[in-house]
Amino acid sequence: MTRNISVIGLGKLGASMAASMASRGHRITCVDVIPQVVDLVNQGKAPVQETGLAELIAVHKERIRATLDINEAIKASEFSFVIVPTPSVPQGYFSLEYAARAFKKIGRALALKEEWHTVVLTSTVMPGSTRYGLLPILETYSGKICGKDFGLCYSPEFIALGSVIRDFLNPDFVLLGEHNVRTGEHLEQCYREILCNQAPISRMSLENAELAKISVNAFVTAKITFANLMAEACASLPGGDVDVVTRVLGLDSRIGSKYLTGAMGYGGPCFPRDNRALGWFLECCSVQDVFPATIDRLNRGFVQNLLARYQDLFTPGSRVAVLGLAYKPFSHIVEESQALEICRELAMRQVEVHAFDPLAKHEAHRELGNHIRLADSLEECLHPCQVAIIASPDPAFDRLRAEDFKSANGGMTVIDLWRHLAPQLEDAPEINYQAFGRQSWSDDLVEPLRRHWQEVVAEYLDNDYSGKDHQ
Ligand SMILES: NC(=O)c1ccc[n+]([C@@H]2O[C@H](COP(=O)([O-])OP(=O)(O)OC[C@H]3O[C@@H](n4cnc5c(N)ncnc54)[C@H](O)[C@@H]3O)[C@@H](O)[C@H]2O)c1
Repeated sequence: MTRNISVIGLGKLGASMAASMASRGHRITCVDVIPQVVDLVNQGKAPVQETGLAELIAVHKERIRATLDINEAIKASEFSFVIVPTPSVPQGYFSLEYAARAFKKIGRALALKEEWHTVVLTSTVMPGSTRYGLLPILETYSGKICGKDFGLCYSPEFIALGSVIRDFLNPDFVLLGEHNVRTGEHLEQCYREILCNQAPISRMSLENAELAKISVNAFVTAKITFANLMAEACASLPGGDVDVVTRVLGLDSRIGSKYLTGAMGYGGPCFPRDNRALGWFLECCSVQDVFPATIDRLNRGFVQNLLARYQDLFTPGSRVAVLGLAYKPFSHIVEESQALEICRELAMRQVEVHAFDPLAKHEAHRELGNHIRLADSLEECLHPCQVAIIASPDPAFDRLRAEDFKSANGGMTVIDLWRHLAPQLEDAPEINYQAFGRQSWSDDLVEPLRRHWQEVVAEYLDNDYSGKDHQ
């Protein structure tokens, strides 16, 4: 069945959702407050950079139109997905500023519409926001009653930037908070016609869905951070290897293997803020909020720990290359990127930082200005440096060979936070390869450990416990 759907907010998530739904045969009316964004979509062009988006919009442009007028979009559709920003405020919770303005306009548009209409909030919001913050706006400005005259759901997405289209069409599950059963059933049916897979659709109250959304992301931050702690521990353990340890963790079905690499701390526009928002919410509920706060603190401490570990390499005047600046590969987004933090910290220590990222050069320059040198190529970045830090698991860096790390002065130290380059660099002459989270059997580390355990065991041998085994 072809449905008429509107998408309000054509940003990183909204534009990709609009194009994805059009690709499944639905007719989409898009709304944004920025005229250039509307014009681009009407020309069949992508308003934001996202993998596959430009192609998808170009191919399905007959089914996608954009407007500045919410009235027109509400009139032309039976569902409206609202995907406007919900920025974090300093206390940690998400602002409803943009959502409230959008809901006011939607409310006015609902007043003019006779047919049933369902509003689906996709933006990430705090528990309680939809029912107690936004629903009253719709009722006030429409003069109608939610559940009787129109429907309201909260259905957030668990997409990753760089794979938004694939993730949206092939989710692990769909989280569907419903104001009432009829609206939930209606939206579930709609999702069945949009998704490419048979993902379970979990229906629940608006509030449970709001909490589930931020708790899923906060839980993932805990997994990432735990694996990073194991990497730091392995880096101090003779023969330690974080990949060996996390592989075991992943084999346990209670834990699972995803997001257990043991490398850089997390960043980006979702994980850090969802984690902090959960902390704020727990505090509001008078529940101990130390868990998210501890994860956040450990994550923020990662860069300092890393620089302390290799401090001898980062002396004033030394030249260090940082490869990968975005918070993840295939993205230009540098928001809360730990690679950027590494650059900032190194620059503060008077280190000459050269950096390269295939996509994020302009964004990094906006953040760091002239404090670092942004190269146009890997070669330009690496050549002047004595040390290289591989900060991203970007496949473009996996292809680097030992000869690419020849600096102007000969060899180089390579700190590989993701350990992808071990096969080609581990035994390469003139390269001091440091795989973060792996440790050799060096005497420096073995000796203190040997002494400690010898003393412990000696104590057992000195004391005669014979005959007391079962007491
Ligand atoms: N980007 C992600 O990875 C991601 C993932 C999951 C959830 N989310 C959530 O989705 C929401 C949107 O995120 P985003 O990254 O797409 O934001 P974004 O800033 O990229 O885009 C938001 C768009 O909404 C438009 N807009 C603002 N007010 C509007 C209004 N009143 N009417 C119509 N359009 C309006 C803006 O002009 C902009 O184009 C946020 O709540 C975010 O937390 C984002």
